[in-house]
Amino acid sequence: MSSRFESLGVGFAPYLQPPGKEVVRWTVGEPGFETPREVIEAAIEGLESGKTKYTRGPGSMDLCQSVADYLLRHHSIEARAEDVVITPGAKQALLYSFLITTMPGDEAILLSPSWASYEPMLEFIGATPIHVKVKMDNFHPDIEAIREAITEKTRMILINSPCNPTGAVFTPDEIAKIVEIAVEYDLWIVSDEIYGRMVWVDWPHVSPSTLPGGKERTIVVNGWSKSWAMTGMRVGFLTGPRDAMRAAMKSQANSASHIPTFMMDAAKVALGCDDYVNSFNKEYLKRREIMTNGLSSIPGIRVPEPEGAFYVFADITGTGMSDIEFADGALEAGVQLIPASLIKDGDGFVRVSYAADEEAIHEGIRRLRRWLCQE
Ligand SMILES: Cc1ncc(COP(=O)(O)O)c(C=O)c1O
Repeated sequence: MSSRFESLGVGFAPYLQPPGKEVVRWTVGEPGFETPREVIEAAIEGLESGKTKYTRGPGSMDLCQSVADYLLRHHSIEARAEDVVITPGAKQALLYSFLITTMPGDEAILLSPSWASYEPMLEFIGATPIHVKVKMDNFHPDIEAIREAITEKTRMILINSPCNPTGAVFTPDEIAKIVEIAVEYDLWIVSDEIYGRMVWVDWPHVSPSTLPGGKERTIVVNGWSKSWAMTGMRVGFLTGPRDAMRAAMKSQANSASHIPTFMMDAAKVALGCDDYVNSFNKEYLKRREIMTNGLSSIPGIRVPEPEGAFYVFADITGTGMSDIEFADGALEAGVQLIPASLIKDGDGFVRVSYAADEEAIHEGIRRLRRWLCQE
């Protein structure tokens, strides 16, 4: 067996195992909502009308055009349908982006704490992740630290805003400064915008590809899993400069081939389902409030404002416990959450998902208070 798996991490996996039924689960980054009915019907219709055979690798032109229209409508991103590649989830799009922007031995900058899969994915293909810690009071990028981390081997900076796990939404000015650095050092930007519709602050999500100098060096990655509650349907996409997208098409042609043919129309239908996205967002806002108020009411827990996505990244150092001790204690108290020291620069924090339903949030808070406040 090849040795490439020996040191490969598995991120949060040990704490994502389904617990017993009696445990409240705050771990999974997955919307609890039903997938929009229209999307399911379109997938069934695709199956029944014989869309079960090989098809265009990057995705149907109709779907790629819908993605291009969607990006312009919601994020002011100008993309040509010919430069959109539909992938089995955003994860696969990220893998292609890393293959496109780095060679073995090259360095890629991650703004840590960052999503647990970036590091092993880069290591998988022989690239070296370089972690640049964000400011830990608000999880926004430390622009000077990014600049200082650049070496002659640096090829790419990864931006994930809104961010999993911290919930930070970088300001337009911060994104502009990162683009400036990328221009100055001629670096790629991979922009994972999968939470781009989940912004709870009064500055917008801005894609680096919309800023001067950004378009020609940014690969935008996005997907249907989060905003349309379609995690198991495995659809995502990437778009970016022409040559990069030719490479993405080659990556897909030599691996996944394409997403399931019957999912093409279903994914297109989802892009028109704004009512669902908006009503899910309303719920998330409510749950965010309940979660932040509840956690803040427990002595020793500091809750920086979650600005986007559906995560709270809480500082538990005030409890006197390590994050592992805290997570293990919480599990005993009947709440599953993730100790963030499993990822680089996450020590002392726990990640909590408020994609869980409202009652699970209330019940989890009651249990934590019973455990920590002896109520
Ligand atoms: C930041 C981030 N990027 C990408 C993904 C992967 O999404 P997909 O289900 O489309 O592969 C996730 C899922 O948790 C995520 O949190």
